[in-house]
Amino acid sequence: MSLIFDTHAHYDDEQFDADRAELLASMPDAGVGLIVDPGCDLESSRKAVAIAEQYPHVYAAVGYHPENCAPFVPEDIDALREMARHPKVVAIGEIGLDYHWAENPPREHQHDVLRRQLALAVELDLPVIIHDRDAHADCLAIVRGFPRLRGVFHCYSGSVEMARELWKLGWYVGFDGPLTYKNARKTVEVAAEAPLDRILIETDAPYLSPAPLRGTRNDSRNLVHVAQKLAELRGMTAEEIIGLTAENGKRLFGVA
Ligand code: NI
Repeated sequence: MSLIFDTHAHYDDEQFDADRAELLASMPDAGVGLIVDPGCDLESSRKAVAIAEQYPHVYAAVGYHPENCAPFVPEDIDALREMARHPKVVAIGEIGLDYHWAENPPREHQHDVLRRQLALAVELDLPVIIHDRDAHADCLAIVRGFPRLRGVFHCYSGSVEMARELWKLGWYVGFDGPLTYKNARKTVEVAAEAPLDRILIETDAPYLSPAPLRGTRNDSRNLVHVAQKLAELRGMTAEEIIGLTAENGKRLFGVA
C-alpha cells in the first residue's frame, strides 16, 4: 500500500502543542509516510527543523511567509542559509506573495523578500514552496526571473492558463482541502488537466480541512479526501493518486 506524502503541513503551529508528539509518531501507522513542515519566519523555521530532527518521516523547509515578512532584514538570508544546510531541510518555503489582506506588508517589500529567498534557493540548489494568494501575475513574473528555479505553487488557486505556463517551466502544483469545496470550479479544472507527474497533495495543516471536516483542525491523515477527489476527476483510484503524488514529492524534494 502506498503511503501519503503530505508536502505541506505546519506541525510547528501552536495548535499542535498539546498532542504533536503522539500525532506525528502515529502517522506512519495511519498511512502517512512522509511530511514536509514549512517554516513561516525564522522562529517557526527553527521549530520546523527541530521537529524534523525528531522524526525520520518529517522534513523541514525554511523561509519567510509573505504575511510574516515585515521584520525581514537582508541579514536574515544568512540565518536561513545556515538553517538550510541541515540535512533534513529540503526546500526554501513557505515564501511568496499575499495581496489578500490589507494589513500585509507593502508589495515592494514582499517582492524584495521573495526575490532574495529565490536567489538563496538557486544558490543552494533547493526547490521552493510558493504561497500565491491574489498575486498570480506578480508571482509568475518573479519566478520567471529565476530560470533554474524549481518548486511547487502550493494550494494552487490560479487559472488553468497560468498552470499550463508553470508546467511548461517544470513547476509542480499542490492541491489542498479547497479542491473538495463546492466552489472549487477553477481548481477542479486545473486538477482535471494537470500532468500526473506535476501534482502534489498537501494539507496546509492545521488549516484548510477538506469538505467533510471543514472547520476542524486539519492533519495529514485527512489527505485521503483530497486524493479521493483527484481520483474521481482523473478516473483513477485514490490509492493510485497517493502513490503517484508521493513519487512526485520524493522527486521534487529529493527524499527517499
Ligand atoms: Ni502553509
